[in-house]
Amino acid sequence: MLKGKKILLGVTGGIAAYKSVYLLRELKKQGAEVKVVMTPMAKEFVGKLTFATLSGYPVEEEFFDRQTGQWFSHVELGLWADVFLIAPATANTIAKMAHGLADNLLLTTYLSARCPVIIAPAMDVDMYNHAATQQNLSVLKQRGNIVLEPNEGELASGLVGRGRMQEPEQIVEFLERFFAKSQSLKGLKALVTAGPTYELIDPVRFIGNFSSGKMGYAIAEELAMRGAKVFLISGPTHLSIAHPNIELIKVVSAREMHRKALDIFPSVKIAVLAAAVADYRPAEVASQKIKKSGDELVIRLVKNPDIARDLGKLKSTGQILVGFALETDNELQNAVEKLKSKNFDFIVLNSLKDEGAGFGTDTNKVKFIFSNGQIKDFPLKTKKYVAKDIIDQIQDLLERQ
Ligand code: C5P
Repeated sequence: MLKGKKILLGVTGGIAAYKSVYLLRELKKQGAEVKVVMTPMAKEFVGKLTFATLSGYPVEEEFFDRQTGQWFSHVELGLWADVFLIAPATANTIAKMAHGLADNLLLTTYLSARCPVIIAPAMDVDMYNHAATQQNLSVLKQRGNIVLEPNEGELASGLVGRGRMQEPEQIVEFLERFFAKSQSLKGLKALVTAGPTYELIDPVRFIGNFSSGKMGYAIAEELAMRGAKVFLISGPTHLSIAHPNIELIKVVSAREMHRKALDIFPSVKIAVLAAAVADYRPAEVASQKIKKSGDELVIRLVKNPDIARDLGKLKSTGQILVGFALETDNELQNAVEKLKSKNFDFIVLNSLKDEGAGFGTDTNKVKFIFSNGQIKDFPLKTKKYVAKDIIDQIQDLLERQ
């Protein structure tokens, strides 16, 4: 089930480190390729030699080899892996991860890893329940890391409670499900619009908005991670994209975005419209920079095409179309009207009232609204996690077709 998957196993200094030996064997048995990175404390519990022998790769825990002076690249380790699994993760390492500390190779690897990170905490019950640990774990979850909640049971201290690392078989099973899901959209094509549009006034000025593009890019990444081929039509942003499944199509104005979207839409199964498209553009674009003159300058605006509405009209059976709404008043009512007029399968309502939601931030708080009036309300999450919720919902609709 894990054939060909590259798993970087991070081992930290807790007694549960002995279970990681079984975990490593199990992962190898399932066909995964595994490299191990340890914290200096972890090797006090289980020797490097054990992990090196079983994984078939040398195991590093320092930044360089003290004898040869050879430097170990944490960046390379992070880029190599399909997933970074930290098991066991002690309270200490979890705290350092939450605060961005980088005083060992495992932590520098964590900070530079681009792959999903899965954390299996293991510690005594009171350490686990401590407000500091719980807060650190929730910070990590908010940043998109996956936490495999520990089991309840007898602990090394003799106490009984939650804190036992999940059993190797449970973790392997989770990874199998995780990778199965990661290819669940293979063979499908998707279109995503993202970012603002800029509407030119003259060669050096434009009308725009504060959209950062983060939500749309996170959606494109999530679709690509699950195996879809993604066409990401993006207005001007500072973001970059690295996933090979994503074709980035850069546009500036609403009309350009409209043209590209109409071209691509008939060939895709899924379209998510996260762009903040300007509703109006200047009627005329001055060919020269407009000179400062009188006390007033009037710019006449004309309506832009509504990409969502046009795609909604074109939508054929089986295609899924999802849009966003950002409302300042009568949120629900306006969102439902939009959902209907644009023929969306569901609409994602962004909250403007909650701190941390909306434009520019890394987090968002959303509601999904369906044409039958059903509403799903979500807590504040990182945009990466909101993207997962949106794609999970789309997959749910696809499965019901
Ligand atoms: O009508 P409103 O702009 O509030 O609708 C928001 C939804 O419609 C978003 O999904 C947005 O990407 C999409 N939209 C569009 N083309 C426009 C305006 C909005 O695709 N011209």
